[in-house]
Amino acid sequence: MRKALLELRVNGRSHELAIEPNRLLLDALRLDLQLTGSKRGCDDSSCGACTVLVDGTPMLSCTMLAASCEGQEITTVEGVSEHGALAAIQKAYGDWGGAQCGFCTPGFMMTVKHLLATNPNPTDTEIREALSSNLCRCTGYSQMYEAIKAAIQAEQKGTAAAK
Ligand code: FES
Ligand code: FES
Repeated sequence: MRKALLELRVNGRSHELAIEPNRLLLDALRLDLQLTGSKRGCDDSSCGACTVLVDGTPMLSCTMLAASCEGQEITTVEGVSEHGALAAIQKAYGDWGGAQCGFCTPGFMMTVKHLLATNPNPTDTEIREALSSNLCRCTGYSQMYEAIKAAIQAEQKGTAAAK
């Protein structure tokens, strides 16, 4: 298949790629840009390990074309840290043992980033609903939820301190 030039904006940087029109976004990120944080778990939209943000919305990069993202801002887990410092969710995962093997973690972090951006004070039910498309086979989820709640509290404190 003939390749076409494509410009992708990822984590605030523009990249020009010569790729097939049917290249999946996950492959463009992992294989062409060496951004291997986003994971391929199922390849059929069922696990959430490949979740990235496209213009701020969580999307499954294993089942969307890279070409469909041209002109949009893509954020991967590599773009979660803030000015070189760990984001609240990254720190809380470390503090609370939110990950075991860590395979699901990038996808969860992107979903949490969207949740915190759109609903800074979610209820427990809202947290669980927001994360319902992401699966973890190791943790039993409880430490992960504690980490997420700690990150929400840290974000709220940071917002209050900035006022
Ligand atoms: S790898 Fe994309 S949803 Fe599982
Ligand atoms: S920590 Fe292993 S799959 Fe979630």
